Amino acid sequence: MKKTILDFNRMAETGEKIVYLTAYDYLTAKYEERAGIDMILVGDSLGMVELGYETTFPVTMEDMIRHSAAVSRGAPNTFIVGDMPYMSYQVSDEQAVSNAGRFIKEALADCIKLEGAGPDILSRIRAISGAGILTMGHIGLTPQFAGQLGGYKAQGRSAEAALKLIDQAKKIEEAGACMILVEGVPAIVGREITKRAGIPILGIGAGSYTHGQLLIYADMVGMYDNFTPKFVKKYAHIGAELERAFTEYGQEVRAGKFPVDAEHAYKISETEAEALMEALRE
Ligand code: KIV
Repeated sequence: MKKTILDFNRMAETGEKIVYLTAYDYLTAKYEERAGIDMILVGDSLGMVELGYETTFPVTMEDMIRHSAAVSRGAPNTFIVGDMPYMSYQVSDEQAVSNAGRFIKEALADCIKLEGAGPDILSRIRAISGAGILTMGHIGLTPQFAGQLGGYKAQGRSAEAALKLIDQAKKIEEAGACMILVEGVPAIVGREITKRAGIPILGIGAGSYTHGQLLIYADMVGMYDNFTPKFVKKYAHIGAELERAFTEYGQEVRAGKFPVDAEHAYKISETEAEALMEALRE
């Protein structure tokens, strides 16, 4: 059965870890649901993992809605979080509410996520959650703010920067977020944010103390090999296995070893085959 925010609150209280993973398409979502993943993020990492961009900046609302809807079809009994892409919420509260609503209405997502913690973003969180939409905050290494952060670097590595993140998490909670994702911070920072939170804290590269863990699925199954962040553990080597299968297929087709008609071709009765050959002889 699909978990709800009440289940996630209970899990955070009791210490039962929340398992969170990205997916971008129907098939992957189906396997994740079969594996009992608690929560699926349709991240704007879609841009790099599925669409071949170098960053998340070019990803559009149309991209996100199409892929989130496919994930919802693949995992109808899993809690789905839709990620607000760059410039889908930065302009105004009205723009943010309207685009957040599209995830719920058109893609059947259960929650949306948005990056940042400045005064404008807090206003967006208030507006979206005020419209009745579950809203997940996202702080730390926030790729949509990479320019201001000076690149894709771990955050909160000084006492001052860590205190700022702890303060941001509190403000996001007060603004009405139902959960917060913390990305790319030392484990002690993840721990201190989690200790002080009244809502579930999920981490990606934020150590082991957060209420739940997120990974990008294509990293943890060994498919995305453009680069691998330090915090990723590889649970499979699917990329290598795909390459092996594609290579073997190519070799067999070129060598005339595939298909084998007795195994891979449709049958015709002897009588029909003879009639066909007879007709061709006339
Ligand atoms: O887009 C995404 O997958 C994300 C994670 C990297 C946190 O936001």
